[in-house]
Amino acid sequence: MLPPGPRMPVALQTLGWIARPGPFLERCRDRYGDAFTLRIQNEDTWVMLSDPAAVKQVFTGDPGLLHAGEANGVLRPIVGANSVLLLDDGAHMAQRKLLLPPFHGERMKAYGELMERVAEAEIATWPAGEVVATRQAMQRITLEIVMRAIFGVSDARGLDRLRSAVTSLLDWTTRPSRLALLVAAGPRGVTRLPEYRRVMRELDEVIADAIARRRGEPDLAERDDILSMLLRATHEDGSPMTGDELRDELTTLLVAGHETTATALSWALERLARHPGAWARLREGDEPYLDAVIKETLRLRPVLPIVLRRLKAPMEIGGFELPAGVAAAPCIYLVHRREDLYPDARAFRPERFLERPAGTYTWFPFGGGIRRCLGAAFAQFEMAAVLRVLARRCSRLEPDAVAAEPVVRRAITLVPGRGGSVVVGA
Ligand code: HEM
Repeated sequence: MLPPGPRMPVALQTLGWIARPGPFLERCRDRYGDAFTLRIQNEDTWVMLSDPAAVKQVFTGDPGLLHAGEANGVLRPIVGANSVLLLDDGAHMAQRKLLLPPFHGERMKAYGELMERVAEAEIATWPAGEVVATRQAMQRITLEIVMRAIFGVSDARGLDRLRSAVTSLLDWTTRPSRLALLVAAGPRGVTRLPEYRRVMRELDEVIADAIARRRGEPDLAERDDILSMLLRATHEDGSPMTGDELRDELTTLLVAGHETTATALSWALERLARHPGAWARLREGDEPYLDAVIKETLRLRPVLPIVLRRLKAPMEIGGFELPAGVAAAPCIYLVHRREDLYPDARAFRPERFLERPAGTYTWFPFGGGIRRCLGAAFAQFEMAAVLRVLARRCSRLEPDAVAAEPVVRRAITLVPGRGGSVVVGA
């Protein structure tokens, strides 16, 4: 039996989910409880879960019966069918094993200096005393970091080509007029659109070129960018990754890795600009506090509101006997706003993470279980590096207006409605 949920038509539920995701989710939770059912155009029936015990059931449940790859189908036109995001079972584990070593927490330190250098260069261009739209500025930083750390591209022409291909693709997929089209056409319909084919072809060519050139580099064995590591990686039977696998995983890392982190960084500035005490403490170089600021930002303004697992068999979750075919959706947004877990949950209060560590099933901006975000360490390390540079360079950090920025949707992410606009100064 499915939990209760709004009885309005699919089109209206889809509209609520797309246009006002935060208030829509909170209204449903208030009305129907911790578990409720949503029906969204072109998606499985979703069972939203906001009780940590139910979230734990999903993240520790049998991955063979809880398919994330199938549930992520909306991303197929961009990341490709071999992407770790879209696979399940043995095929998923095989790709994940290939990708994990370069993303191991310890390895991230190798990228620290690069991250700070890129942030320094971008922040130096921000006009003092004027409003800066930080989401776009942060995206320039995070894209540059991905291109250098993941692709290992460092020549100006290579960087320009990759930057332009990625930017056209993201502009195309995130233009609001396209969003309605994407939802209406579904992933299969999209791949038939000529404009989609054009932007995708451009990106594919640039990536194929990067792979071919790297294969021929004499120092491939010593290079520490992620593409070089993937070129050296082998499947369990000793075979190297195929061209299609490399293409799809690189696109996945590119797409999953930079916009998300940029958005999280712009939310951090949006919140810090309205909390001068927190900004002052950050500027004192208090490292545990910096970590707490990052955690509190991802709690209160998670970039992704939910994760999905499609049920392959009937299963009891959160007290409901759910049928096969529905998707269980641990709801990051709602769990992160529970008053019983986070007193004064709407307040931005980084100290809470100094008082109590983040819990696996109560703080999960990166999802969980065997599908937990591969780039979680990379993203948090990068956020820390960029915030450290900002704290060093800018004493002044003010909001563009007193009112907090609204949470609005950009494709599948939740971004600050005025672009994370702040005024900085030395
Ligand atoms: C603040 C930034 C980021 C956020 C909020 C974020 C969030 C997420 C979430 C919620 C998932 C789904 C997890 C699940 O289903 O349980 C995910 C998966 C993934 N993320 Fe991230 N991510 C971020 C940055 C990155 C970065 C920097 C990379 C790589 C460079 C990355 C690569 C991936 C990959 C490859 C997966 C698929 C993992 C799998 O299916 O096994 N992400 N991410």
